[in-house]
Amino acid sequence: MAATTDIFKNDILKDKILLCSGGGSGICRAMTEAVVRHGGKAVIISRSLDKLQKAAKEMSEATGGEVIAVQADVRKPEDVENAVAKTIEKFGRIDYLINGAAGNFLATMKDLSYNAFRTVIEIDLLGSWNLTKAASEYLKASKGSIINVTATIHYTGTPYQQHPGAAKAGVDALTKHWAVELGPFGVRVNGIAPGPIANTEGISRLAGKSASYETVPLGRAGTVTEIAHSTVFLFSEAASYISGHVMVVDGGHWLTSFKPGYPGTVLNPQSSKM
Ligand code: COA
Ligand code: NAP
Repeated sequence: MAATTDIFKNDILKDKILLCSGGGSGICRAMTEAVVRHGGKAVIISRSLDKLQKAAKEMSEATGGEVIAVQADVRKPEDVENAVAKTIEKFGRIDYLINGAAGNFLATMKDLSYNAFRTVIEIDLLGSWNLTKAASEYLKASKGSIINVTATIHYTGTPYQQHPGAAKAGVDALTKHWAVELGPFGVRVNGIAPGPIANTEGISRLAGKSASYETVPLGRAGTVTEIAHSTVFLFSEAASYISGHVMVVDGGHWLTSFKPGYPGTVLNPQSSKM
């Protein structure tokens, strides 16, 4: 289940229109389903139309709400412009934007090609900027709200993560710049930085089967439902004076001093199972 309706009023996001990149899988799918479960309607975008259509159908069936799939590569300005146009054509407005599309894999600098580093920056950082640029006038018109899905890997020098770390640091900078630029138009801009989240592509790529949560103070992985609940809170009126903030939802993971890497990774490449 993506989110329960037991915590928040089930119409807390009634008739709000969400555009979400990466909404066909993992964390962002759960974020989308939570918005729809609480009264919203959504457009999800990513590269794989089959995956999106299946997710949209399943979410619609699970919630009784409307979820539409539109193919778009966030690296391509024409694709994000088209996704925004399709959202307006279908729903007439955009209230919420989630920038969640991302790419990641473990690699040392030696093993990162020039194109590999650029690819991750292009998806996570430029992709977030592209989609927000395309949607920003509609968000101003609705006095809407943006959530950038970021990470905590750049708070410390997490091994094998310089490419997404640099990208997410840029995303966090954009959260602040947009909060300042769009705030006077009534738009709130925040980030959610998940820690290790169970049963996601991200955790399987970073920690694989060797995941261990000894360095997480709460002693376990997070769930997509926990990120979904943070999403409902940040979009709702309960967060009406919160902007420019990155909410870390990681069970305290990044604060621990003994942190040789992402859960399950090791610092010494000689002993790495990469
Ligand atoms: N280690 C090192 N380099 C890698 C790599 C890995 N595990 N995976 C891909 N690359 C390199 C490729 O070799 C290529 O570089 P090259 O042209 O110099 O050979 C470059 O990255 C781009 O790869 P490509 O497969 O062409 O990019 P893409 O745009 O099709 O896919 C990725 C983007 C690589 C990020 C892909 O993993 C992806 O689509 N990820 C989305 C899902 C995901 O990562 N989810 C977790 C989010 S936390
Ligand atoms: P995921 O399911 O793989 O989500 C990434 C999504 O991005 C996919 O749906 C993918 O769909 C889409 N995407 C990738 N490249 C794209 C592109 N060029 N254009 C449009 N869409 C693209 O992984 P996840 O683990 O749930 O991660 C979701 C978010 O949480 C990411 O921002 C990630 O950095 C962040 N995060 C995750 C964790 C974790 O533990 N999982 C921890 C910290 C932060 P297509 O392949 O169809 O394009």
